[in-house]
Amino acid sequence: MKKQILYFALICTVPAILYILSLEKVIPTPVDETHIGITEEVQCFDCHGAGEDYARNKEHPPKDQCFKCH
Ligand code: HEC
Ligand code: HEC
Repeated sequence: MKKQILYFALICTVPAILYILSLEKVIPTPVDETHIGITEEVQCFDCHGAGEDYARNKEHPPKDQCFKCH
């Protein structure tokens, strides 16, 4: 019986964690002339890479696969 309760608790935790993660608001990639033709993530770094004119701020999530979120 203990095992089932533990298992049930685990099943409930997973969606709860996913929900909390989904609360973070992502600004979508703008649909403008600058962004519309971009198909490769490396191109993003030309402007949003560290040290470039539109570098992301320090709180930006560290991952570099832009299209996963934007
Ligand atoms: C040619 C330069 C350039 C490239 C390449 C580029 N961007 Fe941008 N991006 C800009 C500029 C300029 C802005 C507007 C900056 C601002 O208002 O702070 C912007 C704004 C954004 C914003 C919204 C920022 C906000 O505060 O609303 C996101 C998200 C974004 N870009 C993501 C991307 C992603 C993802 C890529 C790669 C697919 C990319 N950009 C490639 C120049 C570029
Ligand atoms: C893990 C998810 C995630 C990934 C991957 C990601 N971003 Fe973001 N991005 C966010 C979130 C969340 C915000 C809003 C953060 C905030 O409010 O400061 C954001 C904000 C931005 C902004 C506007 C705010 C700022 O920091 O200037 C730009 C530009 C941007 N992202 C570009 C990119 C580019 C380019 C890449 C790929 C190199 C990328 N992002 C990858 C989640 C992500």
